[in-house]
Amino acid sequence: MTPEVHPEAAWADHVAALLAERLTAQPDLVVCLPTGSTPLPIYDRLPAALRDRGASADDATVVALDEFLGLPAGHRTRCDEILHQRLVRRLGQPGPRFVAFDVDGLDPEAACAAFDRDVARLGGLDLVVLGLGRNGHVGMNEPGSATDAPTRVVALAPSTRAAAIGYGADPPPTHGVTLGMAAILAAREVWLLATGTEKASILRRTIGGPATTDIPASLLRGHPALRVIVDEAAAGG
Ligand code: PGA
Repeated sequence: MTPEVHPEAAWADHVAALLAERLTAQPDLVVCLPTGSTPLPIYDRLPAALRDRGASADDATVVALDEFLGLPAGHRTRCDEILHQRLVRRLGQPGPRFVAFDVDGLDPEAACAAFDRDVARLGGLDLVVLGLGRNGHVGMNEPGSATDAPTRVVALAPSTRAAAIGYGADPPPTHGVTLGMAAILAAREVWLLATGTEKASILRRTIGGPATTDIPASLLRGHPALRVIVDEAAAGG
């Protein structure tokens, strides 16, 4: 597994261009996207990258990867809010269809079941983009998650809760809902992203060590169409 390494200053432009190319080639792309700090510079650049190609995301579907539980609708740490504000609403009119966990209308287990049904109705996920968590999680598939882990309610790991404080939720949520490892591995294509020196050690273990449920991201190596796209700082380790 060889990561694609880009200079820090060019990384976000590069990934935005890759996504824009993907949407140009397949306008009805069903793409599952993460939040966290890693992808935000990509989302800032994607509208212009599409415009540059004369393309749009109007026929695409954006699917939210995960969601915190216990935060009110519109909270700035909510994944649906971040994806809507930072990306979907900036993609113009009518813009992509947007699918997220209905954690306000349904109890969490029912929201997971409804989310799976939505994804199935869309014909599955063409592309899942993932940020590499500090503890090797992807989505909210925390350490211990196996390849068959379903879309489900999860207890958040301490480092994920600490990160949530950094995103603006203090006290941080204790639980979330996430696309499961099984659904991630069933996607037609997966991109794993990592930036910054603080991801160097976990990236090295993800791609260089044994594939293990201790580092759910390492299980992605079994996917036939995985790309690992990182900046030089993350690769430096
Ligand atoms: P980050 O988080 O992008 O804020 O580093 C990644 C993650 O924990 O999924």
